[in-house]
Amino acid sequence: MEKIAVYPGSFDPVTNGHVDIAERGLKLFDKIIVAILDNPIKKCLFTIEERLEMLESSFENYPDITVEAFNGLLVDYAVSRNCIAILRGMRAVSDFEYEFQLALMNRKLKREVQTVFLMTSLRWIFTSSSIIKEAAQFGGDITSMVPPLVNKKLKEKFGIGS
Ligand code: PNS
Repeated sequence: MEKIAVYPGSFDPVTNGHVDIAERGLKLFDKIIVAILDNPIKKCLFTIEERLEMLESSFENYPDITVEAFNGLLVDYAVSRNCIAILRGMRAVSDFEYEFQLALMNRKLKREVQTVFLMTSLRWIFTSSSIIKEAAQFGGDITSMVPPLVNKKLKEKFGIGS
């Protein structure tokens, strides 16, 4: 049986750290579904369509990675897509509490779906969508931290010429 994992998140926007986690997830799973939470309540910089476009472009060379949007409970979505696991990246101790809570709640809701954590590569340990957005907003060079389309879109969003 094919082993499929869902890699969920807000991806506002996707960073090279996210790409690294999904890429390494393929060493454990046959397929990865990168799933963006479509939550109209959460204030995001990019629309769901923009985030889908950026993710699709970031994973265009990975036939075993697909990108989708979802709403509702993650574990229900995971089951509907035949996923056996939820894949999450963990950077530092600061991530632990939230991730632990999320994993335990998901396990309580659906015991058969496992949560698997991959430690972020040292290279991306300091990056996050939020800090990258902040740097980009004030003209910081974030070229090496995000996929090319994200770099372009961030510049457009903040009206910064390349
Ligand atoms: O990138 P993020 O914002 O840390 O991702 C959080 C995400 C999307 C994984 C989480 O908020 C989520 O799964 N939301 C869907 C609703 C749900 O199932 N929540 C967890 C159990 S209450």
